[in-house]
Amino acid sequence: MIPKEVVDEIKSRADVLEVIGDYVNLKKNGSNFRGYSPFNNERTPSFYVVPSKGFFKDFSSGKAGDSITFLMEAEGMSYVESIKHLAKKYGIDIPEEEATDEELAARNERDSVFIVMKYAAEYYQNNLWKHEEGKSIGLTYLHERGFSDETIQAFSLGYSLDQWDGLMQAALKKGYQKEYLAKAGLIIQKEETNREYDRFRGRVMFPVHNISGRVLAFGARVLGKGEGQPKYINSPETLIYHKSDVLYGLYQAKQTIRQEDNCYLVEGYTDVISLYQAGVQNAVASSGTSLTQEQIRLIGRYTQNVTVLFDGDSAGLKASFRGIDMLLEGGLQVKAVTLPEGEDPDSLSRRLSTSELQAYLREHRTDFIGFKTQIYQKETENDPIRQAELIKEVVGSIAKVPDPIQRQVYIKTTSSQLEIDEQTLISEMNKIHLKERRSSQRREFLMEEEAQPTKPVSLPPEEEDITNVQPTIYVKEREVIRVLVLYGQHPIQVATETTEEGEATEEIKVYDYLYHELEDIAIQTPLYERIYQLYREQTLTGITVTEAWLAEHGSEEIKKEIIDLVVEHYVLSENWELLHQIYVTREHDILHQVIQRSILELKFAYLKQLMEEQRLKLKETTDEVDQFQILKDYQILKQSQQEIAKLLGIVVS
Ligand code: UTP
Ligand code: MN
Repeated sequence: MIPKEVVDEIKSRADVLEVIGDYVNLKKNGSNFRGYSPFNNERTPSFYVVPSKGFFKDFSSGKAGDSITFLMEAEGMSYVESIKHLAKKYGIDIPEEEATDEELAARNERDSVFIVMKYAAEYYQNNLWKHEEGKSIGLTYLHERGFSDETIQAFSLGYSLDQWDGLMQAALKKGYQKEYLAKAGLIIQKEETNREYDRFRGRVMFPVHNISGRVLAFGARVLGKGEGQPKYINSPETLIYHKSDVLYGLYQAKQTIRQEDNCYLVEGYTDVISLYQAGVQNAVASSGTSLTQEQIRLIGRYTQNVTVLFDGDSAGLKASFRGIDMLLEGGLQVKAVTLPEGEDPDSLSRRLSTSELQAYLREHRTDFIGFKTQIYQKETENDPIRQAELIKEVVGSIAKVPDPIQRQVYIKTTSSQLEIDEQTLISEMNKIHLKERRSSQRREFLMEEEAQPTKPVSLPPEEEDITNVQPTIYVKEREVIRVLVLYGQHPIQVATETTEEGEATEEIKVYDYLYHELEDIAIQTPLYERIYQLYREQTLTGITVTEAWLAEHGSEEIKKEIIDLVVEHYVLSENWELLHQIYVTREHDILHQVIQRSILELKFAYLKQLMEEQRLKLKETTDEVDQFQILKDYQILKQSQQEIAKLLGIVVS
């Protein structure tokens, strides 16, 4: 357990902009900040941060919360992990817990795996810099490869000694448990002999980091040619390492990717590191596999521009095109650079100076679609039968581009590049789209079927609209609760009595006014009833209820709704102003009207509901006395409704 005072201090120090800024490229948008959702591939940014409240809201996924929620969502951290992460970021000491055996055992497994990985990374680094074998073999090899000490340190490279169980023995001596060394993939347990030994031996170690710099896995390269041995051995999938969710080098590159607004995509460890040393510090590697959705999402957090570096030899080129289609589908702008024959990014970086390398990358940068067209064109030259394949391939990629205008441009340029008329390409594209739409409709249909049973309570069905307001109770209740949450603590002046000298007024809090108005009313939406009661109970105890307090003390459902209300208010109203270039009267300045209107509209909606009930009763009753009574009640309701309508300035029939 972390002491509560420490948790409170961490929370108060955590700056939501700084915390989220490590993951999302945020741009100022009025007094808020806006960026692309880290949870979805999206084309228009719909992720907002409201720094004054410490909240974020992602309109594309519906996720919302504070710094801690964000870390939990974005990094898959537990609550405790998030707190610790923030403590580290802000240099706040968490008092060392006196861990008993049971506590140690109970500690989250993932945590334990992270901890042994951290130890292993330090151990391998220590070997490289301090140990005789590490220095003479490992470090020498890396220097010969052209890596400087600075670069080696930036990537935390290390060395595993040529021993059966060097790491295991050292770790056990330090008190780490075998179980977690195995779960981290650091040692291998042979069942037949019941012996354990290190997975990595006599190799240069490349740690793979997540975006916050924690070690998830290792790649290990044999020294020199390493006859008969695999060149690279990698960590297996573990509790913390999912190969397809990680990009090598992103931790080191993320800042530069953001600054340059471009990300280079290469094949492996040595490419990333050599480019980095040569001054191109915005490269990441997908580590051999073809790109995944998750990796694309990761890149999308930092930039919308990806430049893929293709080796000079075209073997494997076409296979890598598939992954690039996914980049296009994600709405990213994709460029391609081909390297000279027989070179990879690693060799080129070493051969050229920084400025030459940068010039090369700049000058050989072409649009990916054009590049792909050219490759297929060369291949199918003088082979009319394969023309169809060429068109299909290229148009297939264009069809992935989500922006219709950009697609149109691609059709044009491809048409002139291939000397095929636009119409042929367009009809090919339509065929592809039609096919996709059919299958996605099927998918959506199936998903909807599945989603049915857990569907949340939705809005009450729209009633027949008799006025120019839409009196659905849910919407009106939400509005009243919104006023309560946002303005509850604000003072307003209310008239107490009218004397000859004029009106006597008294200052009360908005919540007092609302309590009074809602005295005889039962809020029907359970969520709003709960928020209302929570607010009420707390003010009775004398606590000043703020949005943050509600978010902190309510259920998950309440927290989410509070954040939604707050962010919608701060973000949407401001955007409306920015978008339409008009000055929207600050709600705050017309608080009185806002409150009154919200109450009146809610009452109007309730009355309408009651009248509807009377109408139904009337239909079902045959007794004349009852009918008379119902009609009388109905008249009273109708009269009240008309009074309210007058105040609202609407006409009811
Ligand atoms: P290379 O074969 O060029 O590796 O593969 P290297 O370490 O640079 O070796 P030399 O010195 O050129 O001979 C490039 C990248 O491909 C990945 C690694 O990330 C490597 O950095 N790779 C290569 C593997 O993951 N496994 C392999 O077996 C080979
Ligand atoms: Mn290489």
